[in-house]
Amino acid sequence: MDMRTKGDDFMVCLCKKKTKKELMDLIREKEIKTLEDLREIGDVGNKCGACCEDLEQLLTLAYE
Ligand code: FES
Repeated sequence: MDMRTKGDDFMVCLCKKKTKKELMDLIREKEIKTLEDLREIGDVGNKCGACCEDLEQLLTLAYE
């Protein structure tokens, strides 16, 4: 899924109910650089794991 084309309210992690905007803000605020840290600090992507690829994209997009 291309995260670039998704809106702020797009639910990236369905298990933990986290939107694109929430996650982008968190990544920038806490200066999160790795998926491992995002999973731990954001309590996201750590249940079914289906959103991990999308989370990786957000980690890139947040710093563009
Ligand atoms: S959708 Fe993110 S852990 Fe399941």
